[in-house]
Amino acid sequence: MKRVDDFRLKFGQKEYVPIMVGGMGVDISTAELALETARLGGIGHISDAMVNDVSDRRFDTSFVKDKTKLYKHNILNADKSDVKFDLDILAEATRNHVGATMEAKKGDGLIFVNCMEKLTMNGPRETLQVRMASALDAGIDGITLSAGLHLGSFGLIADHPRFRDAKLGIIVSSVRALQLFLRKNARLDRKPDFVVVEGPLAGGHLGFGLDWAQYDLATIIAEVIKFVKDEELNIPVIAAGGIFTGSDAVSFLESGSAAVQVATRFTVAEECGLPADVKQDYYMANEDDIVVNTISPTGYPMRMLKGSPAIGDGIRPNCESYGYLLDGNGNCAYITSYNRELALNPSGKNISVMDKTCLCTQMRNFKLWTCGHYTYRLKDTTRRGPDGKYQLLTAEHIFNDYLYSVDHQIALPAGI
Ligand SMILES: Cc1cc2nc3c(=O)[nH]c(=O)nc-3n(C[C@H](O)[C@H](O)[C@H](O)COP(=O)(O)O)c2cc1C
Repeated sequence: MKRVDDFRLKFGQKEYVPIMVGGMGVDISTAELALETARLGGIGHISDAMVNDVSDRRFDTSFVKDKTKLYKHNILNADKSDVKFDLDILAEATRNHVGATMEAKKGDGLIFVNCMEKLTMNGPRETLQVRMASALDAGIDGITLSAGLHLGSFGLIADHPRFRDAKLGIIVSSVRALQLFLRKNARLDRKPDFVVVEGPLAGGHLGFGLDWAQYDLATIIAEVIKFVKDEELNIPVIAAGGIFTGSDAVSFLESGSAAVQVATRFTVAEECGLPADVKQDYYMANEDDIVVNTISPTGYPMRMLKGSPAIGDGIRPNCESYGYLLDGNGNCAYITSYNRELALNPSGKNISVMDKTCLCTQMRNFKLWTCGHYTYRLKDTTRRGPDGKYQLLTAEHIFNDYLYSVDHQIALPAGI
């Protein structure tokens, strides 16, 4: 019977353990988690979501405070079009986060950065360009483009000296999205080095509508693999979303996936950035505690625990400090919803906004508990202590469980 360890992901001449730990913003997939994954020979991700804030927390910079001070006069103004990111600071924050991570890297694996197009940052093109170029400057091994079609993203870094040597890939949820991406980038003569196909059971934003349950990863990935083969593209195709055991992974590897991307199992790793009490909420979740809703202002459905404090919260938009979801014209769907409620309740007290959430603030404060469909199975991956708390796992334990398990078995950790 095969194990994941019987397979390898090939990039050119080099071989890697075919396990990618997916990017989880905001700093849920920490540098520590990515470093462990790389040390073990796989591919880890950091995320550049809200990287100014991540830099402040990791390196004691004051980028968020400085931006808040600069735009303080605008806080009560509904028009956020003037609230811009300073591109030099964005570059510095990215270089801090990526550079320190890459300096600490040990082992044979790789570290990529997850770059979401939906972080439009009130200047979609220029901010995305700076984010990608600075990550390349700081030595990142690769970039995974996500949360968007990224039709122009390769073009934004085509002049970068590392454009052809860094590993660049994209997450898609359909063969059509991949075809569109390839068509739009044909003139650059630069194929992606990998394609992650994310199915409907993943965590974070979904590339499906609320009819997500009608789709399944195995079908979509078979279509993508066939297309890549028919076109002789020779691009590794990586399966993601709902791969919970080593045996799940093996079934994708046996049917032509080059690797798997996993995340949910790692949300309860010691190295994961979620606060310890939130990890217990993930462990305790039952199937009916997990919902897919449309409160994300990005327009994509998102999966989360229904007990997330963000749901129904009505905080004032924090765009002067954050503003990562402002489109190029200073708009965000949360601002519209918040202002609607404020008009009904001008005192601004006890406002509840049900249809959208202030995603920046809530993700930054770990109050929006996005999670994969199988989060309710996490409790089966560990032991429960006499105090009722579930034991956290090391990333190494989870990684090795994927690598060596057979028959859908899940290795429990040694007791505390
Ligand atoms: C807590 C959490 C946060 C996530 N955040 C992001 C993100 O910021 N960007 C992204 O592209 N994918 C994100 N994802 C998706 C993962 O990177 C991954 O592709 C997917 O969850 C894999 O499926 P699995 O969780 O069932 O293993 C997130 C997933 C989880 C569980």
